[in-house]
Amino acid sequence: MAAGAQIIDDLLRPDVNADPHQALARLRELDSIHWSEPHRAWLATRYNDISEAYRNRALSSDRVRPLLAMNKDENEQSTATTRVRELLSQWMVVSDPPQHTRLRRLAAGAFKQQRIVDMNQRIQQLVDDLLDRFIAGGHTDLIEHLAYPLPAIVIAEMLGAPQEDRDRFRHWSDELALVAFGAGGDAREERHERALRGMEEMVSFFRELIELRRREPGDDMLTAMMAGDGSGDELTEDELVAMCALLLFAGHETTTNSIANGIVALLQHPDQLALLREEPDLISSAVEELLRFDGPIKVINRWVTQDTELAGQQIRAGERVYLVLSAANRDPAKFTDPDALDLRRSPNPHIAFGKGIHACLGAQLARLETRIAIGSVVRRLPGLRLAGELSYKESLAARALHRLPVAHDALPTHR
Ligand code: HEM
Repeated sequence: MAAGAQIIDDLLRPDVNADPHQALARLRELDSIHWSEPHRAWLATRYNDISEAYRNRALSSDRVRPLLAMNKDENEQSTATTRVRELLSQWMVVSDPPQHTRLRRLAAGAFKQQRIVDMNQRIQQLVDDLLDRFIAGGHTDLIEHLAYPLPAIVIAEMLGAPQEDRDRFRHWSDELALVAFGAGGDAREERHERALRGMEEMVSFFRELIELRRREPGDDMLTAMMAGDGSGDELTEDELVAMCALLLFAGHETTTNSIANGIVALLQHPDQLALLREEPDLISSAVEELLRFDGPIKVINRWVTQDTELAGQQIRAGERVYLVLSAANRDPAKFTDPDALDLRRSPNPHIAFGKGIHACLGAQLARLETRIAIGSVVRRLPGLRLAGELSYKESLAARALHRLPVAHDALPTHR
């Protein structure tokens, strides 16, 4: 580390939130695992340490149930909040084995590779329609008109929601984020009550959808999840509702940000954008590199449930560990020239989708959506350029732009 380089371990500091990579590089060089007073948490930034942390069973994902217990004790939260948190506590992503193992096993059938491959044409058609409207309408924000609506429509369709209901999904996913983990910044208080009402609407919608699929099974993910895995064990109705909500929550904003961050990285590296225009078949390896370079999830949170050792450091039960994926993905011990965007990088063992038992269940779907969206933007929008300032949402977990303002030279008829 350069002598005198300042160590910043507040990842929410506005300059770090806007551009985290320099601060993360310093932390990664400084020590293997770093106690951050501002976050009151350990920050793990090195690739190998994070890989080790993913295997350490003393690091728990179970972070909603303790909140529920706390709320009940303090009787602080409304019944509606408690009800929503009860729903969230059934999510596999916030469960440990054996509950996690069971939920993941019962959901896995819905993510069979063929089902995802079969979505290829449909996703291309959705992207084409969104881009047609983007171009014809003279719009400028690629998040509002492409990256944000696309994943919500895809999940709605894959769950088998009727066409006329699919637009409601995007609002529910925002409301879930707000109620679940307090996203939403300043607008939080005023939006909280509305969000809770949205959640109740979402829960009754999924209950009706489940009822419909019991009467009329379809070729959709919900029907597949209802069928179980042949072991005789099945998800209860509450678990099915929770699962639908999880797929929406886990699959929407992440994919939005993966598409948007990827486009920004290309615009900031014109040589790589030109390379992708010349060689569109590079899109698969390009998307892996874009996920590594500036992936949508910066930090994954774990609670320590028993005293343990991580990267040579004693960590006590009750403490928190933040696995900083954005730092691991630029660790020079793992990646040659890690700050360079190299669409041909191979191998590319990035961990933007996590690792271990919780590794992203929707990774193949997310990759497909990101490839089709970015590939189509590059093909259909010649002269693509940034047309405004970029600002990032204040968030520890997400690397998320507010807007992606662009200009281009495409004509409305061009496909
Ligand atoms: C580029 C987009 C995406 C990224 C970067 C991403 C990333 C991640 C990461 C890092 C985890 C691990 C969380 C942890 O260890 O605590 C995860 C879990 C998960 N993701 Fe994704 N995800 C994306 C898209 C999706 C999509 C489209 C879906 C489904 C529609 C999805 C469903 C899930 C589920 C169900 C889990 C929980 C798995 C478990 O706990 O066993 N994700 N994702």
